[in-house]
This record gives sequence, C-alpha cells and structure tokens, in this order.
Amino acid sequence: MSSPDRFLLAGVMGWPVMHSRSPVIHNYLFSQHGLTGTYVPLAIAPDNLAGALRGLAPLGFSGCNVTIPHKERALAILDTVDPVARRIGAISCVVVQRDGSLAGTNNDAFGFVQNVLQRQPAWRAEAGPVAVIGAGGGARAVVYSLAERGAPEIRVINRTLARAEALAREFGPSVKAVAWDKRQRALDGAAMLVNTTSQGMVGQPPLDLALDTLPPRALVCDIVYVPVDTPLLSAARRRGNPTVDGLGMLLHQVRPAWKAWFGIDPEITPALRAVVEATL
Ligand SMILES: NC(=O)c1ccc[n+]([C@@H]2O[C@H](COP(=O)([O-])OP(=O)(O)OC[C@H]3O[C@@H](n4cnc5c(N)ncnc54)[C@H](OP(=O)(O)O)[C@@H]3O)[C@@H](O)[C@H]2O)c1
Repeated sequence: MSSPDRFLLAGVMGWPVMHSRSPVIHNYLFSQHGLTGTYVPLAIAPDNLAGALRGLAPLGFSGCNVTIPHKERALAILDTVDPVARRIGAISCVVVQRDGSLAGTNNDAFGFVQNVLQRQPAWRAEAGPVAVIGAGGGARAVVYSLAERGAPEIRVINRTLARAEALAREFGPSVKAVAWDKRQRALDGAAMLVNTTSQGMVGQPPLDLALDTLPPRALVCDIVYVPVDTPLLSAARRRGNPTVDGLGMLLHQVRPAWKAWFGIDPEITPALRAVVEATL
C-alpha cells in the first residue's frame, strides 16, 4: 500500500467539520502503518455535497466519511448504497470504486457493537430488554445493531414520541416506542441502557434521567464522546453499573473504512485511544 508514486487520500465531509476528531485518528494510523497519505477535514456546504463527492475520484481519494448534516442526503447522490446504510437511512462512509463510481455504507452500527464487545466481552444483545434514549441518527444505527444481534425488546424513549414511533414501525415488533414522561418506568428490568441523545455532550445539560429504576447489573452506554466521561456514565458507575463510553464507537468505525479504502484492518489500540482522548 505504501508506494512512492501513490499518496493515500481520505477525509471527512461535514458542515461544520473542524471539530471532528477523525483526522487525528486516521493520521495517527497512517503514521503507525508507515504509509504516505493524509486524511483531511473537508468543510462542504450542503449545496456543494454532490459536487464534492463527485470530485473524490478525479482527485485520487480512496473515499471519505460523511458527517452532519450530509449523512441522509448522501444516500441519493451515491451510485450504490449497501443494505446496512439503506436500513439505517444514512451514509457514514463512501468508497471510491475502481471504475470511479461511489459506493456508500454505514459503519456506525459496526462501531457501536465492536466498542461494546471490546470493553465488555461477555455482552450479549439477547441478555434482556434494552432501553435506548433518543431516536435521531445515532439511535437508528444503535437500534439497527441491537435488532440484528437479537435484542428481545428495544424500548426507544424519545422527547418527540413520533420519531420513536417511526423507528418502531420501521424496525419491527421488538422495537417499542416510549413517551418521554414514561422514561423512568422503561428502565425497569432493562439489561442495557444506551444514551443516543446529545444530552450530556459538552455545552448541553446532562441527560434528565434518574437511574433508580435501572437494575444494578445493567450495562450503561453513552454514544456521546465529548466528554468521554458523561454525567450519565459517572452516575451509573457510582451506583455500580458497568459502563461503556462512546469514544470507541468512533474508533471502531475506522476498521471497515480502512479495509475498504486501503485493504488494511487496523487495530484499535489503547495508544490510539489515548491520542484521541488527549484532544477532547
Ligand atoms: N460515538 C459515535 O461514534 C457517535 C456516532 C453518532 C452520534 N454520536 C453522538 O450522539 C449524539 C446524537 O447525535 P445524532 O446524530 O443522533 O443527533 P440527532 O439525529 O440530531 O438526534 C438528537 C437526539 O437527541 C434528542 N434530544 C436533543 N435535545 C434533547 C433534550 N433537550 N432532551 C431530550 N432529548 C433531546 C433528540 O430528540 P428529538 O427527536 O425530540 O429532537 C434526538 O433523539 C451526539 O452527541 C453525537 O456526537 C456519536
């Protein structure tokens, strides 16, 4: 892969994009693997998305990640979209094919599951009901992955009930929509709790959720990763629940992206995690 006549190129398209930690992750990996290449933040205004994506092949990019606000819009622009991205309803990764055409996939669900398994190897989705807080883009990937792995019941609790109901309709009978004011009761008997809302993120208030009704052995996950230790995770740890933070979800998504772009499956090491954590 490392070749004197080929400079590897990838990036992330977003608007805004400069907050993204993806360049830190990918550029660390280029250096660890001794590759000549770079991963750049690409600030692409929504109206320029189609043109920017079409520019990837002629510029020699292997592909790119897409983030807010482009994840849904990219679906309609790419030449092919795989069934995972189609089902989640969003693109997270674009791969330039040999013929210059653009293939889209979504690695968020893979990242979520692999992160949980790396931190809690004994975790099984079938272990019991899962309470998912939120019904936005992140929630769609989390619900998809939990349903795929056989979670017997997925309680989607969202401030806007209609969005939770839409998820329940789409993902089938194991997914149940729960109104925001019933959220405490929805933790009853749960084997796992996942926050997919933006609450607890830097600049946002903590998630408004008391954990009293959550079983003490339930696994508590947050997909927010700025900060890594969210108020939800510290509250869960204080009462003895095992926890998994959201940073690894971002890190593990890199593996299928690199496989598709460069033919390499990079290892997600503590050193990589520490490099990214130092920027948060
Ligand atoms: N670790 C990772 O790799 C990863 C991947 C994806 C996302 N994330 C993180 O996940 C978070 C959500 O991202 P997203 O793309 O899913 O965003 P999104 O599509 O905008 O969804 C936001 C969700 O948060 C809920 N919410 C917003 N304000 C709220 C409030 N005051 N009270 C209760 N609920 C509220 C929304 O509820 P309504 O429907 O009622 O508006 C919605 O369910 C962000 O922090 C993002 O960085 C992390």
